[in-house]
Order: sequence, then structure tokens, then C-alpha cells
Amino acid sequence: MCGIIGYVGKESAAPILLDGLRRLEYRGYDSSGIAVMNGNRTIQLRKRKGRLQNLRDLVAESPAEGDCGVSHTRWATHGEPTDENAHPHRDQSGKLALVHNGVIENYQTLRDQLEAEGHTFESQTDSEVLAHLIGKFYDASEDEAPGERLVTAIREALGQISGTYGIAVMHADAPGFLVGARLGSPLVVGLGKGENFLASDVAAIVSHTSDAIYLSDRDLVFMTDSDFKIETVGGDEADFQVSRVDFTPEQAEKGEYPHYMLKEIFEQPQTIQNVFRGRLLDDEASAKLGGLNLTPQELRDVDRIVLVGCGTASHAAMAGEYIIENLARIPTEVEIASEFRYRNIPLDKNTLIFVISQSGETIDTLAAMREGQRKGHRVLGIVNAVGSTIARESDGGSYLYSGPEIGVAATKSFTAQVTMLALLGLLLGRMRHLGMAEGQRFLQEIRALPAKVEEILQQTEKIREIAMKYIEAPGMLFLGRQFNFPTALEGALKMKEISYIFASGHASAELKHGVIALVTEKLPSVFIALKDSIYDKNVSSLEEVKARKGPVIAITTRGNEEMERIADDVIYIPEVHECLSPILAVIPLQLLSYHFAVARGCDVDKPRNLAKSVTVE
Ligand code: AGP
Repeated sequence: MCGIIGYVGKESAAPILLDGLRRLEYRGYDSSGIAVMNGNRTIQLRKRKGRLQNLRDLVAESPAEGDCGVSHTRWATHGEPTDENAHPHRDQSGKLALVHNGVIENYQTLRDQLEAEGHTFESQTDSEVLAHLIGKFYDASEDEAPGERLVTAIREALGQISGTYGIAVMHADAPGFLVGARLGSPLVVGLGKGENFLASDVAAIVSHTSDAIYLSDRDLVFMTDSDFKIETVGGDEADFQVSRVDFTPEQAEKGEYPHYMLKEIFEQPQTIQNVFRGRLLDDEASAKLGGLNLTPQELRDVDRIVLVGCGTASHAAMAGEYIIENLARIPTEVEIASEFRYRNIPLDKNTLIFVISQSGETIDTLAAMREGQRKGHRVLGIVNAVGSTIARESDGGSYLYSGPEIGVAATKSFTAQVTMLALLGLLLGRMRHLGMAEGQRFLQEIRALPAKVEEILQQTEKIREIAMKYIEAPGMLFLGRQFNFPTALEGALKMKEISYIFASGHASAELKHGVIALVTEKLPSVFIALKDSIYDKNVSSLEEVKARKGPVIAITTRGNEEMERIADDVIYIPEVHECLSPILAVIPLQLLSYHFAVARGCDVDKPRNLAKSVTVE
């Protein structure tokens, strides 16, 4: 997802904008730029294709002076990554600068119209069309002060576009004046002392302020270094609240780790604990999820659950399906968000929908939530990013409290999501027929998770050596059953998205139905074969691969020494309740993919073509 930072204050804007872009690099981008203005009514534009360092070098050669500015990291949608297509974009006069997240669907019609009126464009982007459209309306209205003219022009232009936007805009006629607006693309206001900020992600400005206002769709904000006002794009009063950012600048940094991804893998003992802290009820052998906004009777009436998400969140949902059905005996199904929003699934009034999203901004998951709400269903969110759109628009839900997940590859959010779904399964199960003793045993198992994860993390060097052994592999299969079929899918996603090799996840028994045709002595298979109810079947599948000389890396339960005889490499994890086993079994897969990708020289925090949060369709 593209990144936006805007600054107005008394400091030099360029260093602040560049540092903010650095903090947004993790979201994935292919070009970047800044525009800065000062009192002399000129806008200085610097933009470059490629890594942020290219922009820093340009600004060092050709400094941009001023105390007000906007900046952007671009993940190309319309127009390939080039200097010209990088944001900010200017209008025909060259006095307006805009940065934009989102997609303007009717940009070609607008561009044709503007070209017919004599406008000339420098780029192929939809965003530049918006800059020209605002500039056109600005030039047409001369009876207001420049700042008001700019706000009016923005309102008129936004009324003519269809699509999504998060924008930051400034005009040389109005030094020290910034305007922001959003529809479908997040934008947050940062309130400083003698300075104010706009950002697409609060992580970009958390080192300057902890006071943030998360704008809602159709909000418009205008600000100076000492004041701000929020209205709707339509000109009405807008409600807003000032929130305290729930993490520190250090949490948004790598610290002593070489990559955010490794840091976040090692944070999991803590982040899993953050999920269940204050949510376990010993005397009831149950869990407390206050944010669900449902009475006990409403929870008892639930007769079907739909879990919706994308990517890793959908894999966590799949684990949740097994967990909830096992603990609460409620029919549960998983829907990929991009499918759910267009399917017309028959759901009755006692169906409860959960949307699962780390960022709380994934466009397909957001759209699926709105589709469920449109049909009158309660849609609850399991979200990490506080104040995100899904968190604010859902009918309730629970935060993961994992802190910012910066690495594009989701790691701690997966284990946090599965832990949350286990709490939900316990809560619903104890309202039905899950006994006190079983509930208490489950609580003990949950509390033991952080220490068990810690134990697995100590094997990182052993897992790195295993990764090195297969570093030339052309691909990798990941296999698991029942609770760990989703884990196999998640392991495959991790491997493919950061090391770029072909990797696929399957239910182990599916090998015989086609997958085993892929097995060769060069293609390793990673089996999750824990000493559980399905162990013997899993071993049979594993031996089918071995019989065809396929190398096998096995994840199994500590003490299961027989695996040494069967598999080529064995990684042991502590014994754990089957429902919670994905939380442990995924850790070796996260480390395997991390070490494999690093050894192959891949950029694990910013994998090619990927963005941390997919906010455009
Ligand atoms: C997983 O490693 C990827 N980052 C991606 O699949 C991600 O899980 C997906 O885009 C959903 O993101 P969300 O949880 O922020 O909605």
C-alpha cells in the first residue's frame, strides 16, 4: 500500500518527510517523492523511482527548503514505476501539489476532458488527474482566501471522481496550509506542539506525537501548524475523537534485529500473551471478550459462524474453523473476503460473521464486512491496528494488541489471530456443553503457550541449518492435516512470499490425489506430523513421499524419536492441545522461510510486488 506523510510546522519539512517515508518503507513501494513549500510561494518537487535512498540522494544534491510539505511512497497501480509517475503530482499551474492513495476509476474520462481544456500531463497516473482537477476548480474561484479556495476546489473535485482516495494537498498561494481527505484509504491526523501531521499510517509519525485522529470515510481536514478543522467532504460538521497511539516509536523500529520479520517472530511469546491477558476467567473456566457487544443469550443463539479474511488472516480463520467446531460444536465456515463480498450466501439471522484483519484496512475484507452489515448481520472484527477502518466500522470485536506488524510477511498476527479464535471457541463452548474440567485444562494450555513458543524459538540456528541444506530447492511442499492443514497453507505462503520459490500447502492425504506427482529428490516436503489423533495417517503420507526419494522435513512432538528414522530432518515442538497446535507448529515454518529467504538474498521485510496492507482492489 502507498504511504502518505504531510507536515506543517516550524521545522524543516524535508527531513521529517523523509524519515516518515522510511518508517513506511515496509508497506511496499516502487518510487517515492516529496514536495516542500515555504513562504515564497514556490513548491519544490523531488521524486525518484526505486528505493527511498535514491530520493534521499536527490534531496542531498538538490535540497528542498520549507516548513510545509507532502510526501509519498508509491506502489504502482496506474502507470509503471518511473520518476514522472512518482508522487507528488502538480496541477497545470505547478502551484498545487498532491499525494494520493487509492484508485480513481473514472480518471480517463476526466483526463480526456481536461486535455480538451488545454491541460497537459507529465505522468500516466490517475492521481495526477485529480491534481489537475483540483487546480482547475481552484483557478476558477477567485473570491475566497487561498486556503478556503483550496478546500472548496478539493470538495468540488472529489465530487466528480469515483473510486477511493486518501490525499494530502497543498498550494503555493497558501503557505503553511495542508488539506487531507479520505474515502476508502486510511488517513490519520497527528497533533503536535506547534506542528501538525497527516499520515496514511500512524507508524510514520509516532516519533513526533502520540495524539492521533483516525479520519473516517468522507472526512476532510485542513490544518496549519497551530490549528486544524475536520468537516465532511460535503461541508458538514464531522465527529472525531483524539486517540492515544498504543505503541512506542521503539516498537515501530527493528531494534537489534536484522529484519522486522525476525523481530516479530521473536515477539510472539509476548504478543500471544497480549491476546489472552485479562481475558481468561478461571472461576468460570472460560474467556471474556467484552468487545463482542453481544449478550450471553445472543451468543447462545448463534447457530452458525462465518470467518472472513485474506491471505494469512484466512489461514488463521481456517484454524479457527476447526477450533470453534471442536470446542463449541457450532457449524463454522471460512470465506475468502474477496469471494464473500460477491457471493450471495444464504445466511440466517443467527449467523455471526467475524472479519479478521491485522491492518484493519484490507479493501476486500472491509467490503465483505460492509456486505454482511448491508444484509443485517452483526459483523465483528478481530483486528490488530487500533483505530483502523474495520475496527471502527465493525459492530464490535476484539483487538489483538500485538503492536505494529511492520514486516510484509505476517507472523505474529497469525499466532495472535489463532489465539483469539481459541478464546472465542472456549467462550462459546463453555456456554454450551464444554465441561468445567475441560475448560480449566484449556486455560492451562493457553497460559503455557508463551513459554512453549520461547522454547521453539531457541531452535532458530538449527532451523537455519536445515534451510541452508535445501537452499537450492526449486520449490517446497507443505503438508498437514486437521488443525494443521491451515498451518501448512500458512507455511507455504510464508515461503513463497519472501523467497519467491514455488511453494504450496496441502492436506496430507491429498498427496495421492495428484500432488505426489510433483515429488522428486530435489523437492523437499515439510510435514507437520505431531503426535496427535491423526499421527499414523500423517506418517503414512510422509512415507509415501520418502518411498519416492522425496526429502522430508518433519515438524513433530518433542520425544517422538521414531521420526528420526523416517524423515531427513526433524524439528521438535512441545506437546500441546490439538486446538492450539497451529500456534506452535507455525513457528518453525516462519523461521524456515525467513532463513531460506535471507540466504537467497531476498528482501524479507519488503518482498517484491507485495504491500503490507492491500487497500486497492
Ligand atoms: C501474509 O503474509 C500477507 N502479508 C498477506 O497475505 C496478508 O495476510 C493479507 O493481505 C491480509 O492482510 P490483513 O490481515 O492486514 O487484512
